[in-house]
Amino acid sequence: MTTPVASSHTAGPALPPLPALLTGQTAIVTGGNSGIGAAVALALAQAGANVAINYVVGDDAANNLAAQLTGLGILAKAYKADVSSEDQVAAMFASVIADFGTVDILVANAGLQRDAAFTQMTLAQWNTVLGINLTGQFLCAREAVKEFLRRGVVPERSRAAGKIICMSSVHQVIPWAGHVNYATSKGGIHMMMESLAQELAPQRIRVNAIAPGAIRTPINTEAWSTQEAYDRLMTLVPYGRIGEPEDIGQVAAWLASDHADYVVGTTIFVDGGMTLYPGFATNG
Ligand code: BGC
Repeated sequence: MTTPVASSHTAGPALPPLPALLTGQTAIVTGGNSGIGAAVALALAQAGANVAINYVVGDDAANNLAAQLTGLGILAKAYKADVSSEDQVAAMFASVIADFGTVDILVANAGLQRDAAFTQMTLAQWNTVLGINLTGQFLCAREAVKEFLRRGVVPERSRAAGKIICMSSVHQVIPWAGHVNYATSKGGIHMMMESLAQELAPQRIRVNAIAPGAIRTPINTEAWSTQEAYDRLMTLVPYGRIGEPEDIGQVAAWLASDHADYVVGTTIFVDGGMTLYPGFATNG
């Protein structure tokens, strides 16, 4: 990745990992071989979970990450599947369950942008973004829930029968001109997550979301890779620094653990205050 631009405020030295809150559990992380997904996979593995890394492009990155995670003393393996394909998602879950025994945690993270001014936006750009970001989460959640219901609660591993974390975005609430397909997908994730949480809570399945703000990943390189862009971005971030992928990974590990057992149907914004209407800090 490119050299970080100068900033008075950075995330600081690496944090110690959370204690092994997820030992013996198996997680699937979609889009797990880069950006936020890779950081989530690492944080879950550091917390003791076995990790199935879903990806669709980038075999080397996925296999290298699986090897790195295996080095932490857990099981990890990469699974290639397009989350917008019903057949591929079903086949992936069948393989993961065959390899690991079951699935306890789904982090539905795979997502992309296909930006365009509205009248230029093609149906293909619309369908690709909705297909992966929203339908992909539906398809993966459906397979995960079938497995959670089949298996039920295993008290030695977790108080819940399963946990789903939907990766949303600040754009589930912040409208985004030029990105109507993306913002629509994230708004949809918000209501899908809450409806699912309501439906599944009686079965002891916890469904929640994380809404990241600007995180330093390949999806938004143009927003942080030059000094000018970074300074412009900081006008939107009261906390004065860009988010790092591990900022999301640590929250995901906690949210998947029993330390968050009573957290049901909530979106946790991890955005340095981006959703605080920073333009009003100086009296509007
Ligand atoms: C988008 C990024 C953007 C961030 C804040 C994310 O959901 O994927 O491109 O930088 O929101 O606007």
